[in-house]
Amino acid sequence: MTADFLVVGAGIAGLSFALRAAKYGSVIVLAKGRAEESNTAWAQGGIASVLEKELRDDGDSEESHVADTMDAGAGLCDEAVVRRIVGEGDETIEDLLGYGVHFDKDGERFLLGKEGGHSYRRILHARDTTGREVARAMLEAARREPNLRLMENHFVIDLITTAKLDAVSDDRILGAYVLERETGEVKVFKSDRVVLAAGGCGKVYLYTTNPDSATGDGVALGWRAGALIANMEFIQFHPTCFYNPAAVGPEARSFLVSEAVRGEGGILRNGKGEDFTKKIDQRGSLAPRDIVARAIDRELKKTGAACVYLDVTHKPRGFMKERFPYIYERLLQFGLDCELSPIPVVPAAHYQCGGLKTDVNGKTTIRGLYAVGEVGCTGLHGANRLASNSLLEGNVVGRLALEEMMRLYPPSKPVMDAPPIPEWVHGDVAEPDELVVIYHNWDELRRLMWDYVSIVRTNNRLRRAAARLRNLKKEVREFYWGHRVNADILELRNLVAVAGLIVECGLRRRESRGLHYTLDHLETDERFAKDTLLRKF
Ligand code: SIN
Repeated sequence: MTADFLVVGAGIAGLSFALRAAKYGSVIVLAKGRAEESNTAWAQGGIASVLEKELRDDGDSEESHVADTMDAGAGLCDEAVVRRIVGEGDETIEDLLGYGVHFDKDGERFLLGKEGGHSYRRILHARDTTGREVARAMLEAARREPNLRLMENHFVIDLITTAKLDAVSDDRILGAYVLERETGEVKVFKSDRVVLAAGGCGKVYLYTTNPDSATGDGVALGWRAGALIANMEFIQFHPTCFYNPAAVGPEARSFLVSEAVRGEGGILRNGKGEDFTKKIDQRGSLAPRDIVARAIDRELKKTGAACVYLDVTHKPRGFMKERFPYIYERLLQFGLDCELSPIPVVPAAHYQCGGLKTDVNGKTTIRGLYAVGEVGCTGLHGANRLASNSLLEGNVVGRLALEEMMRLYPPSKPVMDAPPIPEWVHGDVAEPDELVVIYHNWDELRRLMWDYVSIVRTNNRLRRAAARLRNLKKEVREFYWGHRVNADILELRNLVAVAGLIVECGLRRRESRGLHYTLDHLETDERFAKDTLLRKF
């Protein structure tokens, strides 16, 4: 199969690119499961944007949004990138309105929310299911687009580049080997222009706010293809994931309680009812996420408690049901009326701030390969992402990637004579007969990462994690090469690769900064005020 543009992932970033690219050539968008299962669709908060059209009588400005982003990013943001992306808020919102996204309004004016690290209310939202609304509208547009083919249940196994072809010295993208899950067939998809938009890697941790699909596929694909990877140590833990004691363990089904709840006055309290975050940062429950997550971690370790509480019982009756209907209803399913009782919460893995190193246009180090959204590391987030900046980034970088590609590699101009693509090589084709091994490895990996490589780190724990990961990697490699591939094996292979990158980047950063906090180096050290870079070959 051949396409002018091949997009891996169907969230906001992939679709922002794909919907525009379809005006210039044929587009295939691959989703490894249902297209609706993206990280985008699970985003609750919204889109941070200072709209020019809005009459800002509260003093907010683009400059303030830039400053908050840089402050959260703890010295590692690329200021030019921040300015560029933050400056595209208007276009982004116009674009989404054009697809039919409905944001909450009061008459003619958008209702604006607030989240941790933001100095002002500037987050456009659709109640507490903003991502679902964005995904709905963009997927509907994608399904209407004649030049765009959305192929679900297609799992990319590996990217194809010229790197391994002896005859070609230039490293550029040629396409991908793809597993069609329904038939078990592996197919070659050829394209000179490939966009990775496969989201993040929350499932590498035992507890996460992410959907099951977030298995680090994009970063693992880029890594194996030889792309430069940056800053994988910066994994953001969201402070408030509903704590469900009835479902502790790998199968825990919990869910995010949006930071916007704190933006509307929710207060974090310990078991004694104390507002403990105030002792750590004057912004209290609304300090940036790294600070709040660490404050909770410290409180749990100090008191031995299993969770802390998010208290909204002081809000007027009916407020939560109206503003956060999804959260309100889900909590009711667990027997908790949050307007009457505080919500038990714990931190959970939420967002990958590193990824394939790119410029603001999503351009990676492999020609023709772009990485957009969570899978890319443009320099917007630095060492810690500011809440609700990611949907904005996804939309903007998806658009800029297309513009850049049309400058460098327009479909009307063949990039080069395509060298013959080698057959997909695989080992044995035995059916996996010991799925229990895969599931065991999967659980072991996620617990290992949670226990050794989460909110508070040490050199020792990182080294121990690295040693255990080496064994796991060996086992997963044997399993991968010894059996017919299926989605479970592929996801585990990707997770183990990404876990290795998180640990390796963590070991290299011998300081505490943003989301990387280590007891061995408590201070920020200016010698490390730079990206952590890794490349396979
Ligand atoms: C949230 O609603 O708390 C998540 C928003 C985000 O991660 O940007």
